[in-house]
Amino acid sequence: MKKISLTGIKPTGDLHIGNYFGAIRPALELAKEYDARYFIADYHALNTMKKPEELNSTIRHVAAGWLASGLDPEKVIFYRQSSIPETFELTTMLMAFTSKGLMNRAHAYKAAVQENSEKGDDTDAGVNMGLFTYPVLMAADIIIFDSDVVPVGKDQVQHIEMAQDIAQSVNANYGKQVLKIPQAAVQESVAVVPGLDGRKMSKSYGNTIPLFAPEKTLHKTIMRIVTNSQSLEEPKDPDTCQIFQLYKLFTQAEEQDALAKRYRAGGMGWGEAKEELFRVVNRTIAPIKEQYDAIMADIPALDKILEQGAQKARPIAAATVNRFRKAAGID
Ligand code: TRP
Repeated sequence: MKKISLTGIKPTGDLHIGNYFGAIRPALELAKEYDARYFIADYHALNTMKKPEELNSTIRHVAAGWLASGLDPEKVIFYRQSSIPETFELTTMLMAFTSKGLMNRAHAYKAAVQENSEKGDDTDAGVNMGLFTYPVLMAADIIIFDSDVVPVGKDQVQHIEMAQDIAQSVNANYGKQVLKIPQAAVQESVAVVPGLDGRKMSKSYGNTIPLFAPEKTLHKTIMRIVTNSQSLEEPKDPDTCQIFQLYKLFTQAEEQDALAKRYRAGGMGWGEAKEELFRVVNRTIAPIKEQYDAIMADIPALDKILEQGAQKARPIAAATVNRFRKAAGID
């Protein structure tokens, strides 16, 4: 039997190039080898997103983005977290095995507390129970599908470790393996995608290049990449330039060598380098965007794909919950 890979995608914003190279592509690669279960973590998003129209449309946007990028719903079980009620039943059961102290140590919660105390506010100001118990719901997401590996970014590793801790407490209590212990799969080889200002591309830095913007917006965004003040004539160093780092993601050795030569020779301004980048980004993105637009033009069909995924997922989820209930004496 193939091993199971599972990951959750929090639909909190517009997909950008950093998501594509950092999360989507590696997860789709992994799906070739594993039995993959990928889902839209819409209840996780609810912790921070309280505007219904916005949440509703980001759910569709992110789902369509993954499908357009090549996720095959015949091969990958692709569903919405909110369509699997068993997950919330398991969350409640896991709560009984999760110490409050463990949650106190979660990075996201600790960061919120620290920010509050620096401002002199009540330490729990603005912290809802969804944020505080976030790792338990995430553990349920993972454990319910007997996941072997969870492809995530480094920022999520602590959450996976907490899922392991919680599952181990359950198994230790009943003296047998009721729940499978998941492992994090942090892809070290995944490139860090630089943003417009050279820092890691991230929604929270506001330095992203969107995946599905109209061509004109894409062009304008790329033209905003921050550069140094070297003149047109000066030779330039491709290795320290984020335009070139981005260019590398979209090209093979031949084009990379050619552009690097032009950098080093001098006589090429930053504007021209950005035009080169725009050309190759657009070349890669245009067909994906075309797919994306087609999917978004038929939301009922998209919803049906997600619903069919949920139909496949629910019996697996129910089996885990039943196994646990039985072990717990609630059957
Ligand atoms: N916490 C993850 C993030 O912020 C999203 C997520 C929710 C997730 N449930 C998951 C990831 C389960 C992996 C497995 O990106």
